[in-house]
Amino acid sequence: MLKVINVVGARPNFMKVAPIVAAMKRREREFTPLVVHTGQHYDAAMSDAFFADLDLPQTDVHLGVGSASHAAQTAAVMERFEPVVIQEKPDWVLVVGDVNSTLAAALVCVKLGVKVAHVEAGLRSRDRTMPEEINRILTDQIADLLFTPSADADQNLIAEGIPPERIRLVGNVMIDSLYQHLERAQQSTIRERLGLTDSRYAVLTLHRPSNVDDRTTFEGILSALERISEELPIIFPVHPRAARTIAELGLLDRLTNAGNLRLIEPLGYLDFLNLYSGAQLVLTDSGGIQEETTVLGIPCLTLRENTERPVTVSLGTNKIVGTDPEKIVAEALAALQQPARLRVDIPFWDGKTAERIVDALR
Ligand code: UD1
Repeated sequence: MLKVINVVGARPNFMKVAPIVAAMKRREREFTPLVVHTGQHYDAAMSDAFFADLDLPQTDVHLGVGSASHAAQTAAVMERFEPVVIQEKPDWVLVVGDVNSTLAAALVCVKLGVKVAHVEAGLRSRDRTMPEEINRILTDQIADLLFTPSADADQNLIAEGIPPERIRLVGNVMIDSLYQHLERAQQSTIRERLGLTDSRYAVLTLHRPSNVDDRTTFEGILSALERISEELPIIFPVHPRAARTIAELGLLDRLTNAGNLRLIEPLGYLDFLNLYSGAQLVLTDSGGIQEETTVLGIPCLTLRENTERPVTVSLGTNKIVGTDPEKIVAEALAALQQPARLRVDIPFWDGKTAERIVDALR
């Protein structure tokens, strides 16, 4: 029997851990899975909603860390996670993605000599100003087992001197969640609630510090969006970090009067899946959404200068357009003229990644 602590902290972790915990529960003679929530994200809309939508079991331990500076947040996770690991004596600790909780938990384990596995290893944007890039590089250096989503990730790890026997190409576990919930998501009434009757709408998400914490960049992007929204409604579920900037810059009035640019609260997993799966275009600075739109064949414009997920560009529907307002408008108008895209198959993004992970831990 293997005891595995699965660590979650922030919104993009939940849909990665849910299929893995479910796979362990299906093999209850082999695995005892525990879920530890660091509390990095704590609002109902950023956390609880995902537990309900994804059928994630209640957390066994909640560390209640909350928001703070990078150093304070990372340190708080470490301090509070260490006694849990000492008490539980797990055979493995599994961390996912690239958030502060991921690195903090991995660092605790390596110091205690407890084996740690990293899911979504090897992704690199080569932009060290992104906090996530630092979290990725350091987590991959110290983890015992690295589960990669695509072959480019393996190459990145090898180039950093990681021994091949620590690397396993298993595919993209977020896509397990997507396939598992696609049908249920069709029952969401979100489009009806927003008064959307056809696919002539776009979905926008923005939360990267480089986009939303910088006044000039943020205002530039918003002016591009106002222009695009003259063509079709843009639905914008607002992340708390973007909400904070909108409030600080006094932009709420301007944005709520922008007509077709519609600001709404952050959505749960099923409502959001329903919403973007029906859209004509997605604009985002998220990593995961580049992958999800690729699998569903939805055109995606990434409002960043780089991506750590190059297969979404080379094989998928993603285009990196940066943050220059004129370029964003030109690319969006061009994308709206394109014929509908077909769904794309990326090797190993087949809904069976969690099984491969669980097999490898065994
Ligand atoms: C974090 C991750 C990022 C991920 C994103 C997804 C790091 C370094 N960043 O960024 O990789 O893409 O989550 O959402 O780990 N806040 C709330 N309620 C919450 C959580 C946060 O209001 O439940 C507000 C707080 O004001 C906080 C701010 O949002 O200061 C930012 O939260 P934080 O967790 O620090 O980073 P994110 O920008 O969410």
